[in-house]
Amino acid sequence: MSVGIVLGTRPELVKMASVLFALEKRGEEVVLIHTGQHYDKNLSDDFFRDLGIRPPDHHLGVGSGTQAVQTAECMLRLEKVLSDEHPDVVLVQGDTNTVLAGALTAAKMDISVGHVEAGLRSMDRRMPEEYNRRVADHISHLLFAPTPHAEKALREEKVWGKIFMTGNTVIDACETFAPLAEEKSGIAEDIPPGEYILVTAHRAENVDDPRTLAGLVEILTNAPLPVVYPVHPRTVERLRERGLYERLSSSSNVTLLPPVGYLDFLVLMKRCLFILTDSGGIQEEATSPSIRKRVLVFRENTERPEAVEAGYAVVVGTSPERVLKAMEREVSSEGHPDGPSPFGDGRAGERIAEIVIAETERGRDDVGEHEK
Ligand code: UD1
Ligand code: UDP
Repeated sequence: MSVGIVLGTRPELVKMASVLFALEKRGEEVVLIHTGQHYDKNLSDDFFRDLGIRPPDHHLGVGSGTQAVQTAECMLRLEKVLSDEHPDVVLVQGDTNTVLAGALTAAKMDISVGHVEAGLRSMDRRMPEEYNRRVADHISHLLFAPTPHAEKALREEKVWGKIFMTGNTVIDACETFAPLAEEKSGIAEDIPPGEYILVTAHRAENVDDPRTLAGLVEILTNAPLPVVYPVHPRTVERLRERGLYERLSSSSNVTLLPPVGYLDFLVLMKRCLFILTDSGGIQEEATSPSIRKRVLVFRENTERPEAVEAGYAVVVGTSPERVLKAMEREVSSEGHPDGPSPFGDGRAGERIAEIVIAETERGRDDVGEHEK
């Protein structure tokens, strides 16, 4: 049996690592395919290094482009690789353009598709990710829902595939790498001593919107504590286009960093007072036993309501007034969240690997039965 794993961005590397390791540990042949959606060293190679992922078998070199160009290029290049390799099943993770392209290309080639982190819904039409995840969910054969909430969404939408509740593989990554991170990371030298707020923001509906972007700059320069902000290249580009980069980088309240590797980021999360972010993965990681930090979600909604229900996340919107008030509240709050993570126990990758193997073998037996 052979399993194709298609990935292309930073969070897919973090969240696919444990699935890849678990499949290879069980002796399965894995064809690892990187679309090249992310290509900067600090969004890609550094994650192979930090997570100990072997080099991909195929690198498609797709790069950046409009939504259609990037998705179409992934599909065109992937079709060639899949027709040469003909894996029994293709796995994709999350909601990026790589995921949409991977799921659609494989499904149309009659290859079984497994969607890791299925069933998330923001109900927000501004997000390209919402289209990607909905399409991937409805054409996949195996759906790995991270939580009961995601499982329920899939059942209500009557998806075609088989649904399994597995936990989220991001907790596997956090729990495996957090102990190593403190030992190996040198990031403490690059940040001011004492308490700080860790910030990330890269979502298109935020940073591509001039008002929200200007509001973010206002928030960070007036934040009640020093800010440490590793900036995604999309955001750097937008800040420069709007003439805002200088204002942010010259603020004595803000330490801007390039995107940092996974081990460094784990340390930044562990040491901060709290996090302001629009990232999906960070909302989940903050609930893991080795992090346990409050996240102010810099968005109007979240497809991770479990983090809110568990007391880890608060959706604060994007208006500077509201966000700054929420930051003040957080600085003076005494309690810190410490309940169990709603995203699983750190064994999701193992479960997914076992299900993929069992279901692929069952699929083969069924074909054999038809042929008799
Ligand atoms: C993508 C995903 C998003 C995910 C994020 C993870 C889609 C629609 N979006 O957003 O869901 O949260 O990855 O970080 O798939 N760029 C570089 N170097 C790179 C990659 C990108 O400079 O290595 C710049 C380019 O200017 C590019 C822009 O960032 O145009 C956006 O990159 P893109 O891959 O289109 O989307 P992300 O914003 O990274
Ligand atoms: N991350 C990182 N370095 C950074 C910023 C984020 O290692 O400078 C990690 C973070 O820990 C999480 C993942 O990248 O595992 C989240 O990626 P991102 O926010 O880009 O994507 P999303 O999760 O929103 O799709």
